[in-house]
Amino acid sequence: MHQDVRLHTTRDGSHSLYSERFQQFYHNPNGALAESLHVFFEQSGLIVSLQKNEPVSILEIGFGTGLNLVLLADLVEKNGTTTSVSFESMEAWPVHPDQSKAFNYGELLGNLSLSDNLQSVFEELQQQALVRTSFGPVLANIHRRFFDDFRPQNQPFTHIFHDPFSPEVNGELWTPAVFKKLLSWSAPDVVLSTYCASSAARAAMSVAGWFVARAPGALGKREMTLASQNPKKLENFIRINETRLRQRWKNGDFNSLSG
Ligand SMILES: C[S@@+](CC[C@H](N)C(=O)[O-])C[C@H]1O[C@@H](n2cnc3c(N)ncnc32)[C@H](O)[C@@H]1O
Repeated sequence: MHQDVRLHTTRDGSHSLYSERFQQFYHNPNGALAESLHVFFEQSGLIVSLQKNEPVSILEIGFGTGLNLVLLADLVEKNGTTTSVSFESMEAWPVHPDQSKAFNYGELLGNLSLSDNLQSVFEELQQQALVRTSFGPVLANIHRRFFDDFRPQNQPFTHIFHDPFSPEVNGELWTPAVFKKLLSWSAPDVVLSTYCASSAARAAMSVAGWFVARAPGALGKREMTLASQNPKKLENFIRINETRLRQRWKNGDFNSLSG
């Protein structure tokens, strides 16, 4: 039972998983918690939005360990954010509660009640295809679904955490069709963030109509990627040349990610 994932402690002491199905870690082995904070909260500008009390509606692709929801709830509490913060995520293969009870995120953040909340989410996902819950101060909808069958409830989204496995092993979530769907569910000022820096992924975003920029990567990775439908949201970053990437896509330079 549950042999498809195994627990792994990353170098900042936070837990991650290794997926036998995808032959990949869920996070950067140099630090799961530090990577999530950097990619999804700091570079995306989300922390600043929480500090400014801007309403936030997040969509995550790939709920995995639930680390991003725990971090979000902790940051909302610690910043004293009072505006509405909602989080929606989908997961095709939810972690079994026997495994999630080991996760040390609440402990590391000094916020043990969030560990209890997370455990309840994984228990309920065994019974229900949709868990709607108040996760600390965050209104969360977690769907047990494949992305293709997922219908969002909280759109338009202000932030997208694009967090599948890499394009090499999880290619169906890095196509222009997927990025078009995400754009159609987004607010005009949306910021999409991902740890991935591959040209193929950036080309797929460009073909779908996103403006794209490179940002400094987390923990020894040179780069990550940010995208928006408002170029002003990317003005502190180095933009990539979307026209050139679209042309390269047309020329068939990235055949592995069609669709
Ligand atoms: C990199 S890991 C997850 C990271 C997660 N956000 C976390 O912090 O643990 C990618 C996740 O996407 C899920 N996934 C992969 N393909 C999927 C699909 N087509 N539909 C829904 N979930 C998918 C995997 O099962 C895995 O949990």
